Amino acid sequence: MNKFRGQTAAVLRPRSTEEVSAIMRYCHERKLAVTPQGGNTGLVGGSVPLHDELILSTSLMNQVYGIDAVARTLTCQAGCVLETLNAALAEHDLMMPLDLGAKGSCQIGGNISSNAGGLRFLRYGSLHGSVLGLKAVLPNGDVIDTMKGLRKDNTGYDLKQLFIGSEGTLGIITEVLMGVVQKPSAVNVAFLACPGYDQVQQTLVAAQKGLGEILSAFEFLDHEGMRCVNETVDVPNPFDSTAPFYVLVETHGSNSEHDYAKLEAFLENAMETGCVVDGVVAQDATQAAALWQVRERITEGLQHDGVVYKYDISLPVQHLYSLVEAMRPRVADLATRCVGFGHLGDGNLHLNITSPTASEELFAQIEPFVYEFTREHRGSISAEHGLGLMKARHIHYSQPAANVTLMRQLKGLLDPHGLLNPYKTVEENPLNV
Ligand code: MLT
Ligand code: ZN
Repeated sequence: MNKFRGQTAAVLRPRSTEEVSAIMRYCHERKLAVTPQGGNTGLVGGSVPLHDELILSTSLMNQVYGIDAVARTLTCQAGCVLETLNAALAEHDLMMPLDLGAKGSCQIGGNISSNAGGLRFLRYGSLHGSVLGLKAVLPNGDVIDTMKGLRKDNTGYDLKQLFIGSEGTLGIITEVLMGVVQKPSAVNVAFLACPGYDQVQQTLVAAQKGLGEILSAFEFLDHEGMRCVNETVDVPNPFDSTAPFYVLVETHGSNSEHDYAKLEAFLENAMETGCVVDGVVAQDATQAAALWQVRERITEGLQHDGVVYKYDISLPVQHLYSLVEAMRPRVADLATRCVGFGHLGDGNLHLNITSPTASEELFAQIEPFVYEFTREHRGSISAEHGLGLMKARHIHYSQPAANVTLMRQLKGLLDPHGLLNPYKTVEENPLNV
């Protein structure tokens, strides 16, 4: 995001859990701060040093140890790139339960550390469910090992959960045992135009009802998001005319005739009721990929405007777009665009406001309003991107004081000298940025 830049003296690139442990033991004895870094694709500065922290990169820890097609598990090191894991799993007709735009460079250790959500969360759920085990190196070099690979294990506290989503502040994930899923033999993608946000919500309800167990994604973007990808990254609008909202619906199943019939019935109904005014269904994988581009390349497109003020909000679906509607007039004279898109099926809005250069006047129109609105509607100020450096000081908008106190006590217990990924998540960053 070009927001943070540290002055690290060294990047350490260990190849094994043992090497990570040795590094942490050394750093712990000498009180050296360490920032773990995976693919460095995060959006909140979680993997960037703020001052002179050493960087511990997992990029050389890229071994796939094994795939068990019966148990449906994959065991690998933390530095494996998500797309590489999918390629290995495809040979067994399996795939990772998570997918996101950064798949070509993000690493599984970083995905888990940041509890990445992504495009198919609606169907395959959270990493808190699909990670079956991991190894994590604590700030003092001790190794926590939960790699038994059992789907059920009720013996005491589920320690692996501590490292999922704690953004490398409690330990460094070095090895992973993932529950993986069937690669669908039938995939359909439909791209729809809706005349209003009420109709988008009705389309979601109809998709959940009509497509049921085969629904794998329900993503949305508004007209500003569409205009952004058309103008900046040359991705065309699949329709001749524009609409206020667009929805991408995907199905994953095992019987193409059955799935296509379900999709057709859903679409007919959505058009009859006026919830959908235009629609296109991909006829092959190339067309499906082209439709996904409209949604997946918004983030890249927004960067072309210069500075992006980026928010990743969870809200009840009925209030989700009212945040964009409330924001737009506030920033109208100062911003290049105010875009709403995201994972509607998960109640996750990405609100992005762009301008050619950083502007304090614009920023004052956005914050704290965006956080106050979210708190008022009982939402979360970070649905999936994490808190990192950028949002750590705003944790109280989404977490009661007693919860934050317990989080800080846990951090203090595991990392008494505050050496692992300092200034992130539960610690305030001193720069106030
Ligand atoms: C997405 O869903 O495209 C990502 O979370 C990235 C973003 O919010 O920009
Ligand atoms: Zn997202």
